[in-house]
Amino acid sequence: VSAPAAVRVAAPAKLNLYLHVVGRRPDGYHLLDSLVAFADDADLVEVRPDPEGPAIEVTGPAAAALADEPDNLALRAARALAGALGRPPAVSIRLDKRLPVAAGVGGGSADAAAVLRALARLWGLPDGHPAPAAAAPALGADVPACLACRPCHMGGIGEQIEPAPALPPVWAVLANPGLPCPTPPVFRARTGPFSGPARLADAPADAAALAAALAERRNDLEGPARALVPEIGDVLGALEGTRGCLLARMSGSGATCFGLYPDPATAARAAAALAGRPGWRVRAARLLHAPPEPEVLPAGG
Ligand code: C5P
Repeated sequence: VSAPAAVRVAAPAKLNLYLHVVGRRPDGYHLLDSLVAFADDADLVEVRPDPEGPAIEVTGPAAAALADEPDNLALRAARALAGALGRPPAVSIRLDKRLPVAAGVGGGSADAAAVLRALARLWGLPDGHPAPAAAAPALGADVPACLACRPCHMGGIGEQIEPAPALPPVWAVLANPGLPCPTPPVFRARTGPFSGPARLADAPADAAALAAALAERRNDLEGPARALVPEIGDVLGALEGTRGCLLARMSGSGATCFGLYPDPATAARAAAALAGRPGWRVRAARLLHAPPEPEVLPAGG
């Protein structure tokens, strides 16, 4: 069998269903307790062999926001995996950047994790080969979770992941006000006591039970993010006002917020109700239970 001509894989948005800040390390990084899940609202990554690589081409609606990035995390992921395998990083990457940047949905980490998944397939690594997971933590605290791409509890500064109890079928609307909300100032603006960890002990029976459990938890970064980007309050209010919304919450350090819904039709109606707000990006999505399968484009095809 010849090597594939290219491998394409989705890089799903990460949602922090709750996020507690439980401490702070001497180096300034914060200790977190978070339940993360992934949505089928995604960037798209395609890798193909290129003897002149590594190279990257970024297209898509959010490409311009990455133009100033000197060393894209996706490129670093390719170099890291190649280095770990002792092979040249002879690959070119196409990144279709659809998710908003600096938006609390882990876009850069998701892209890096998708490159690891795509290259594992392009380079014929057997399932469970340790190199992608070994390369992930040094690329960013969120990259191991994005590589797992299933619901998980995050500890440490985000790099310690454990499988979460099974989540019920649940749909989301992701809404972003179109304003960047970089992470470091949000953490710096956080004050007050730390929260305790609050992991889910049991699998919620359905979407309503999941929302009820989440309602007892918070995103501790919401207050500081709203102080910096007050429009986050408008987004949360708009989501809360949609019919059938079980819970509205900010993800990560913002500004993207999500509403949870019990079925796809209710989520689609809610997204339609929010469409047309100037500058907002609104998408209905399903929460994923497993990583998306890479699509292999055969050589000569
Ligand atoms: O890893 P990421 O790029 O998301 O982190 C950006 C910044 O956010 C870090 O440099 C740090 O200031 C802050 N941060 C933190 N605690 C974390 C993750 C990020 O304080 N667990």
